[in-house]
Amino acid sequence: MAYENVRTEVRDGLLVLTIDRAKVLNALNAATMEEIYEVFAAARSDEKVKAVIVTGGGDKAFVAGADIGELAQKTPTTGKETSERGQFILSFIERFPKPVIAAINGFALGGGCELALACHIRIASEKAQLGLPEVTLGIIPGYGGTQRMARLLGKGKALELICTGDRIGAAEAERIGLVNKVVPADQLMATAEEMARKIMSRGPLAVRAAIEAVMSGSDMPSAEGQFLEATLFGLLCASEDTKEGMKAFLEKRPASFKGK
Ligand code: COA
Repeated sequence: MAYENVRTEVRDGLLVLTIDRAKVLNALNAATMEEIYEVFAAARSDEKVKAVIVTGGGDKAFVAGADIGELAQKTPTTGKETSERGQFILSFIERFPKPVIAAINGFALGGGCELALACHIRIASEKAQLGLPEVTLGIIPGYGGTQRMARLLGKGKALELICTGDRIGAAEAERIGLVNKVVPADQLMATAEEMARKIMSRGPLAVRAAIEAVMSGSDMPSAEGQFLEATLFGLLCASEDTKEGMKAFLEKRPASFKGK
């Protein structure tokens, strides 16, 4: 499939999705959002894809936000539609059944920060700057950022970042838990790939269940989340992978998982 605004590469089961509109610091116009969705929708059922890394083209930005040129044209009706569509696409990524890692190589602002928040794990280059500057434009985050940031950081820190619109550096982002890890720029992709490949070596059904338990569970009261956890735990006990994982441990050899 040919894309205009993104690039894709699959290497040994790892899909690298690069948002590639470097002239506008990879800003997300509607066409780019749809291409991102198409890539994830195709990858969902593609057995060759075991994990995804999302990053930005060029050396300056991951994604510098929604495309402000397009946003400036929105009416109340089209603005709401744009927000809802963005929420749908980022929720699709959040609920993706295979691990998704954001490799944040520069500015991750507005919709770019929201895209990173929808990924399961965030690794940032030392050069990265993150923030939700929407209020500086007279709007609020519209792709789920108010909800995901508050759930990840707590309401106080989320409100500080959202209401000031301040950008923070990678080290501060790591300190407050907005990113998992910070590495020198030239080690970003290797670090993201190393983490992706480690997860890919684990039982894929177990990883899928873990993502579902954490992501779906965090929207539920604890008792319901624990019910979901127990149900997924029980389901896994019927899998060949679970038997293989335990057998391999007892036989003191690495497990060979088949995703069955
Ligand atoms: N939408 C559309 N175009 C954008 C953009 C966005 N979100 N972010 C950057 N661009 C464009 C700039 O307009 C500029 O285009 P030009 O070369 O035609 O003038 C180009 O990308 C480079 O950006 P520039 O501002 O010159 O780079 P900089 O290094 O001086 O500043 C930023 C970088 C990220 C700090 C700055 O571009 C910025 O604040 N962007 C907007 C961030 C934002 O508010 N995002 C939330 C949107 S909801």
